[in-house]
Amino acid sequence: MFCLAMATNNSSFKFSLFSHLVLNLLILLATSTKTANSYAFSIKEATIEGIQLAFRQNQLASRQLVQFYIGEIRRLNPVLNAVIEVNPDALYQADKADYERKVKAPGSLVGLRGIPVLLKDMIGTNDKLNTTAGSFALLGSVVARDAGVVMKLRKAGAIIMGKASLSEWADFRSLQAPNGFSARGGQGKNPYVLSADPCGSSSGPAISVAANLVAVSLGTETDGSILCPSSSNSVVGIKPTVGLTSLAGVIPVSPREDTIGDICLSLFISDAKVSSSNGSSISVDYNDPATKAASYYIPYGGYKQFLKLYGLKGKRLGIELSALVIDHLEIANVNSKNSISNDETIAMLAEFKLALNAYLKELVTSPVRSLAEVIAFNNKFSDLEKIKEYGQDLLLSAEATDGIGKTEKAAILNLERFTRDGFEKLMSTNNLDALVTPRSYASTLLAVGGFPGINVPAGYDSEGYRAKAY
Ligand SMILES: *[C@@H]1O[C@H](CO)[C@@H](O)[C@H](O)[C@H]1NC(C)=O
Ligand SMILES: *[C@@H]1O[C@H](CO)[C@@H](O)[C@H](O)[C@H]1NC(C)=O
Repeated sequence: MFCLAMATNNSSFKFSLFSHLVLNLLILLATSTKTANSYAFSIKEATIEGIQLAFRQNQLASRQLVQFYIGEIRRLNPVLNAVIEVNPDALYQADKADYERKVKAPGSLVGLRGIPVLLKDMIGTNDKLNTTAGSFALLGSVVARDAGVVMKLRKAGAIIMGKASLSEWADFRSLQAPNGFSARGGQGKNPYVLSADPCGSSSGPAISVAANLVAVSLGTETDGSILCPSSSNSVVGIKPTVGLTSLAGVIPVSPREDTIGDICLSLFISDAKVSSSNGSSISVDYNDPATKAASYYIPYGGYKQFLKLYGLKGKRLGIELSALVIDHLEIANVNSKNSISNDETIAMLAEFKLALNAYLKELVTSPVRSLAEVIAFNNKFSDLEKIKEYGQDLLLSAEATDGIGKTEKAAILNLERFTRDGFEKLMSTNNLDALVTPRSYASTLLAVGGFPGINVPAGYDSEGYRAKAY
């Protein structure tokens, strides 16, 4: 898993600044959460560590676990709309894992053997599941191969449980569309307060974990898409450094900012242990060139070595209690929040068109082969797409772009300057190891700089949850 696959992009600065700290933070918090030894095993609220221990002690079979989750999905999904498809092969995969454990096959007790993982419907699987970004336009499309992260999951023995709902096209269809809404998935609901914003776009992965429909899920983030729904649904969500997790086979938004990370119920040392056969989830994927650049900064022996009980000792944390993280950077005479968001949008619109067209071309079969055809599909089958009332303004704006031209290059340069003279400067002048903020306030800083972040549940407001997504 990637729960602990943090940090390092293309500079040692980023590495030294964030990786140790975030990992250490994980461990510190892990000590305050339940561990498998301290309570009797219960499938509900089970952590990976708890599940593995139960496997080892023959208290639990994978089949039982998968059946439990299928039952909960059947019971709760009609209300929560967190899952779009359940893998018809999940029980078969569970039986296989159970058999291997029974005959003590080598490796049958390590990695993620027999543990179900739910994937956001952006992450391609070459099996019976569809990969559609929540849109009917991609229903029936066939990917050439599993996404890079799915290959790793299968290799580690994970059971692919199904596809989780999301804000359609990872929130890149329309500015008006509500968080967590897609034509195929319907409106995802916050399990704490059904009328509350679940945030997005990885709404389904966060809701599913919060509601015990699965123990672990994978989401994707361009700007806030893991951190925000994790915050709203009170789960742990990790957005790794861009380039550490392979984007190959994942429906893209902006390869400059996109990253894949996991969402879990609590912080668990165990998942670190699982995750890491020495950072194995992090390695070069030749189908995603960005992973090559990042690989030079992965420390020898991976990230596991940084998982220390008292790792936060002596670290300097900057605390930012308002939503004004970006505004404060204005002091550094960089850019206003609006202009950063504008520049980000300018770049993303062009990047989305290029990346999506490339993704669609690579499909073995597909009802649509280009962004233009997606737009035409949405127009033609507007009744199928219940989302039609929200329009498709972002798709249209993206289609109107023509590659990375002068305007886009200038915007990207601005974003780089913003990172260098703003956030990086803030961190280094104050000699900070990390910045702590409520919710996902800092997501844009992390997005434009490619930095990692983690959301950790820390409390509830007067309405019993996090009333506001931002
Ligand atoms: C994938 O989509 C097809 C329709 O094209 C549907 O028949 C099939 O059941 C879907 N797969 C799953 C696992 O739901
Ligand atoms: C992980 O690293 C340790 C030493 O750092 C090594 O002994 C072990 O074989 C490695 N395991 C894997 C799965 O690479």
